[in-house]
Amino acid sequence: MSDDFTLAIIKPDAVRTGKAGPILAIINEKGFEISAIKMLKLTTAQAESFYEIHKGKAFYNSLVEFMSSGPVIAMILRYPGAVEEFRQLIGATDPAKAEPGTIRKLFAVSVQMNAIHGSDSVENAQREADFFFSKVERF
Ligand code: RTP
Ligand code: MG
Repeated sequence: MSDDFTLAIIKPDAVRTGKAGPILAIINEKGFEISAIKMLKLTTAQAESFYEIHKGKAFYNSLVEFMSSGPVIAMILRYPGAVEEFRQLIGATDPAKAEPGTIRKLFAVSVQMNAIHGSDSVENAQREADFFFSKVERF
């Protein structure tokens, strides 16, 4: 598999409100190739582990509760410069600060319920892809 990939998650707020289809359409239009995809509901322990990097921060417990509150859609997306390009496409963490046309500007409802996750480094993309997908689930 190419090294140029990122790990994306359509978060529970967006799945719950029927935004997965429109978000996938934008990802497709931008030319990202889906090389793995699954819908799943994280356990509390899994959400704690995925966001371990934020352990101790004021929003950690609430973030874990939110991310395990309903099904999510996890994906590995391939594209040249995938990590940086996808961060551009999703926009700022706070939707009020996100650029027009970004996924968060279009679909996020708050800083926490911000519709989508994208890896913030190549190293984290690798770690996060391994978190969700086994070898036989990625193409
Ligand atoms: P993500 O990891 O989900 O792609 O988001 P990000 O890099 O833009 O933001 P990050 O700092 O990694 O924060 C992870 C997620 O935690 C929630 N959050 N809540 N209430 C708050 O102040 C706050 N800050 C962050 C958001 O869901 C954010 O995406
Ligand atoms: Mg982050």
